[in-house]
Amino acid sequence: MPQLPAALPGQLLQWYDENRRILPWREKPSPYRTWISEVMLQQTRVEAGIAYFERFTAALPDIPALAAVEEQQLLKLWEGLGYYSRARNLKKAAIQLMQEHNGQLPADFAALCRLPGLGEYSAGAIASIAFDIRVPAVDGNVLRVTARLMNDARNIEDTAVKKEFRQIVWEVLPQHRVGDFNQSLMELGALICLPNGRPLCESCPVRDLCQNLRQAQRHRNGDGVQKVLGDDRSRDSLQRYRYGGARHIFI
Ligand code: ADE
Repeated sequence: MPQLPAALPGQLLQWYDENRRILPWREKPSPYRTWISEVMLQQTRVEAGIAYFERFTAALPDIPALAAVEEQQLLKLWEGLGYYSRARNLKKAAIQLMQEHNGQLPADFAALCRLPGLGEYSAGAIASIAFDIRVPAVDGNVLRVTARLMNDARNIEDTAVKKEFRQIVWEVLPQHRVGDFNQSLMELGALICLPNGRPLCESCPVRDLCQNLRQAQRHRNGDGVQKVLGDDRSRDSLQRYRYGGARHIFI
């Protein structure tokens, strides 16, 4: 199985410490706040989620409050975020936590996976960020970053590929600060290793470890155009696009 470079966590954590976005769930963390933020971010962009997060956690500051909230107030707090089943699942899970876990989120990846509304990715994010449990949190951003670092052109929408990438990320997880490392991968995907063949490689803190960039530099065309591994949409269609000042073609 391919591997990510062993130097990745150290380099990425250092960059994360200096460049991460200041986000309310990061600055004042708690398992509850991590949980709410991860569910909100399942289908909502970080920038859009901040105000909703502040409003939701001000009105419902803990699990007992969430378990007891009236449906009408809950849906009002969620208004604008869409995918209302997420809000209903939050309440359902809060009731379950009151009944089965003393009103606390369990520090246990498998138990988190069993809560309504949490899949492998969100449960991994909560387990690692809130409890420092060594599990990966591999979403679309992290799949793209991983594919580029390894110069792996396979389809990251494919279930078997996703499973393999999750294992590959698992193997490089650091012993400490695993939640920060998972977030540093998400952060790299959100700020630098952008989708649609537009990565900001010049600003990348792990550019020296990136096999896709290495290949792109090797295959630089005579006109200075660089080929960059893009997202699945472009890869599936096998089209090549030229954009901007013709600095990149994404494939
Ligand atoms: N997307 C989902 N969870 C995130 C997190 N913790 N930080 C940044 N982006 C995210």
